[in-house]
Formats: sequence, C-alpha cells, structure tokens
Amino acid sequence: MTRSQTEYPELWQAGQSYRAPLLVSQFPSEVPFGFLGHILPTQETLELALEAHRIPSSEALALVHGARAVAEAELSSGGNGGQTAELEVERASASDLGHAVALRTQELWKVGLRFVTLASSRVQAKSARARLAERLTALGFKPRVPRYEVRAALVPPDLTASEPRPAGYWHTLPTDGLASMFPFGDETVLEPGGVLVGLSLSDAHPVFVDRWAHASYSWGLFGTTGSGKSFAAALLLIRTRWFRPDLSIAILDPLGEYSRLVEALGGSVIRVADGEGGRLNPLDPVTTGGDRREKAARVGTMLRALFPSIRDEEVAELDAVVSQLFERGPAVPTLQDLGERVLENGGAAKRLATLLEVFRSGSLRALNGPTTARPTESVVSVDFRGVPDDQLPFHLTYVLDWAYGRLASRPGPKLLLVDEAHLLARHATTEEFLDRVVRHVRHFDGGVVLLSQSPDDFLVRPAGRSLLRNLYATAFLRLPEVSVETRAFFGITEAEAEWLPRARLPRETGYTESLWRVGELHLPLAIVASTPEFEFLEGALGRSRPEGVGVAAPPKGGL
Ligand SMILES: Nc1ncnc2c1ncn2[C@@H]1O[C@H](COP(=O)(O)OP(=O)(O)OP(=O)(O)O)[C@@H](O)[C@H]1O
Ligand SMILES: [Mg+2]
Repeated sequence: MTRSQTEYPELWQAGQSYRAPLLVSQFPSEVPFGFLGHILPTQETLELALEAHRIPSSEALALVHGARAVAEAELSSGGNGGQTAELEVERASASDLGHAVALRTQELWKVGLRFVTLASSRVQAKSARARLAERLTALGFKPRVPRYEVRAALVPPDLTASEPRPAGYWHTLPTDGLASMFPFGDETVLEPGGVLVGLSLSDAHPVFVDRWAHASYSWGLFGTTGSGKSFAAALLLIRTRWFRPDLSIAILDPLGEYSRLVEALGGSVIRVADGEGGRLNPLDPVTTGGDRREKAARVGTMLRALFPSIRDEEVAELDAVVSQLFERGPAVPTLQDLGERVLENGGAAKRLATLLEVFRSGSLRALNGPTTARPTESVVSVDFRGVPDDQLPFHLTYVLDWAYGRLASRPGPKLLLVDEAHLLARHATTEEFLDRVVRHVRHFDGGVVLLSQSPDDFLVRPAGRSLLRNLYATAFLRLPEVSVETRAFFGITEAEAEWLPRARLPRETGYTESLWRVGELHLPLAIVASTPEFEFLEGALGRSRPEGVGVAAPPKGGL
C-alpha cells in the first residue's frame, strides 16, 4: 500500500502526516553553544537535519579571501550588496578566520541545515513552524519558508552534497560555528563528584565542577567590593569539605571576615594584630621543610614587601646577611638575630639596622621570637584585622610561606584561600612568590582560591599573568568595568564585557550573578546558597541577608 503524497506550496503531505520545512537564510554573528537545544520544542515532533561537508583547505582559503574582498567592497560602496557574501563573516573576522584556516585551527564546512515540523494537520504543522521561526528570529537568525521549493528542501541528503537544494539550505561555517549547532551539547557542566558552583542564568540548570579532576586545582574569584566574593568562596569551601571531609583549609584573611566561620567549623584562628593564637616566627625554616637556602630567599621577599623603598645596595646587603644567617646562624633564627647580624656588618647597613628596629622595639616586636602557634586543626585562618595597611603585604607574605609549608606537610586534599590577593600583587617579588605557590600546590594535592577585586592587578607583570593562567576556573562577579587587557586575556566577549558592570549584587537579589570561565567554557551563573547554607554562612560570616529579599528569587535577565 502506498501512501498518498501531495506537495503544497509550503508543506508536504504524506498520508495523515504533514511536514513543514524551515530553512535559515542568514545566521547571526554570534550564537551561544548548543542554542539548538534551547529552541527546539519539547512537546512537539520535529525533525532536524544537519549535514556537514569539510571544504578542502585550499578552497577554504580562497573562500575566506573572497568573503573578505566582498565585505571590503560592500563597505567601500556603502551599500550592503545584497546577499553576495558567500561567507557569513565580516571583514575583520574574515581576516582572523583566514589566519585560523591557514593554521588549520579552524576549518570551513559546507553545512546543510533544515528543520521540519511534523503534525497531523496542516494548521498544526504550520503553527509549530511559525513558533520555531520566532524563536530563531529572537536569536538573530533569518528563517525562511521554502515556498514552492518544498520537495527540494525535503529530499534526503545524498551524502555528496550534490543534490539540488533551495536557496538558504547551504551555509559556509567555520568549525566553531558548526560546533555551536551540536544540539545535545550545551554549556552545562556536570562533573560527577563535583560541587554545585551555580545555576545557569539562562535556564537555571545546575553546574557542578570537580576541582580535583583538572590539571590545576586553583580557582580565582574577581569582583567589586560587596559583589559576594568572600561569601562565594566560603560557600565553595563548605561544599568541597562536605564531599572531602579530610580537606585541610588555610585562609589568609586580611579583613578578618572568616574567623567565626573557621571557629564554627572547629578550626583555629591566629590573630596577627593582637598575637592571639600564638606567634608565627617569619624566620622559622620549618616552612620550607628545613630547606634553608629556599627559606633565605623567601625571607628576602618578605622583607622587601615591608621596606619597598629599600635601595639596590641595601637589597644586596640584606640578601647577604640573610643568607649568612641561614648558613651559619642558629637552627631557628629570630628577627633579633637578623638585626644583630646587620649591626655586626656595619657599612651600608646603617639604614637597614634602623629599619629593622621595628622588630626589636617597634610595632612588629611581637614577631620577634620563636613560633608558638602550632594549630593541629584541619581548618585554620590567619586574621590580619588591625594590621596597618602598609604592613599587610609583609604579613601576608610570611603567612603565605607558613601556610604553604603547613599544607605541604599535611596528608589529603587542601585548599589555601587568599582573600584581598591584590595586596600581594603590589610588589613584584611577592607576586612572584604567589605565582610559585599557585604553580606548586598541585604537587601536594592542593589548590589556591584567590580572591581579588580586579583581574587588572595581576595583568601588569609576567608573574601575575602566569598566576592567572594557572587558575582552572575564574569567576567574574560584578566588575565596575572590564578593561581591554582583561577582555583580551580571558577572551571575554563584548556582550559579556557589557554585562559584567550590570551583574546583580547579592544585596539586591539575595544571590550573586557571575560569569565563570571554566576551562574554555564561559558560563553566566547565579551563585545561590540553599537556606541552611545561607543561615550557616550568615551566622558564621556575621552577615544578614538584605531586607525584603527572598532566598528563592529566580535568576532573571543575564546575558
Ligand atoms: N550568594 C549569595 N547569596 C546571598 N547573600 C550573599 C551572597 N553573596 C554575598 N552575599 C551577601 O552580600 C554581602 C557582600 O558579600 P561579600 O562580603 O562576600 O562581598 P565581597 O565581594 O567579599 O566584598 P569585599 O570586597 O568588600 O570583601 C554579604 O552581606 C553577604 O552575606
Ligand atoms: Mg570579601
């Protein structure tokens, strides 16, 4: 029995089934990966045909050059030149694409794309198609009904791409464009064993990332003050610890925001300003596992952070004295020993000796003596509240050295949270040290969680850039502006850069809007705490949710 087949101007009837084809005559310049997954109906039957034929590279290069010439001609003639541009790219991107094709990092594809809505009545098939066309239009596509060309639109692909097709069936797309059409992939990340990082701002699907499954365990969070960095970091810490109860955590806490959280987790807090929790002797070689030469180098770094005005000859003198101290001095030197050595040396060291007085009789005298803080808890923080601003980089540096040594000597996974990390980017030497920490923690199962207000602070010097490159995931919370350098370094798109200054703040919404860069993916996410998490963190971080804002406010807007 053969079914009756009828061709109508806009659809095809086969027995009781109507097929309404839809083609795309033009693509937008940017589409989100996996966009098909979001626009295809979930309740209606739809057929999607996608064929891709690789264009040989010599032909591809000729096409790119042709498209560029056409675009240039259109620009110079001021008109749009109709639909002559073979390749859906503008002049500038044609030139980028030319390089990519020449290097074979991108290829060109002849892509056939066809949607067919199926229904048991003509009206239903057409209205389903009209709704699909609307969704495509909203994304910037130009959909086209192949009127009087239904048969040519519907013939099955013959695998050679040589069958006659209506206009708007074939497109020339680079590899990225083709990849964006894969309907089952979208920007969801769902790593088994990972922690919930956030909910997609576009459709609220959850994103789970397993920190321990990647080459670097270190992440960075950047955002303006009040954007929710500390809260997000604390949330990630407790979620990580929930999965890995053996996790060791060390927190460098310049503003003293985490002390109550650490205590609530059964950990201990060292308060630098008043000496509570004990003393950390900056010169104790235990932090380098007894490696005295390495310790001497780190001591040089911390002292330079304290005395940024120190002159070259004084640096040389200080380095010499510090090396001597660790070669010949007591097993565990104190700052007083260092001061005495400088005095013995005389010479250029006069001013140095005066500077080092701060450890004997000045504001840092509490540090002069052996280490007395020996916390055994798995969670520790060092609270720097009350420390004068100009001394913060110094304190952070020897504490970073201490925390690094402590984590290196412990078993199991560990995280080192460095808040207000820009304080360590003020000086080249401390930034280099932080970069080394980020590169090396991985060797003993550790990751750094770096928090700072602006990524720009780390883009000035090579060490800062190296550090940023070694963060597997980077989250941008609201940024007042996104500099050209930041955009280029992280590959942030124009739309993302325009959105970040408008990302909503937790005080407005009860959650944090953010853009995550996880590996190569860009994910706009809402960082949302569950009610128990919020209540725990609110108490522990000593904060309260803004009045009138509910926990369950759904993420709106976004990109
Ligand atoms: N995801 C969130 N859900 C609910 N409340 C949040 C969230 N993130 C932050 N908050 C609240 O918003 C306020 C500001 O957050 P937070 O202190 O973490 O910002 P910050 O970026 O660390 O700022 P600063 O740079 O000043 O340290 C806090 O009161 C916090 O409780
Ligand atoms: Mg903070």
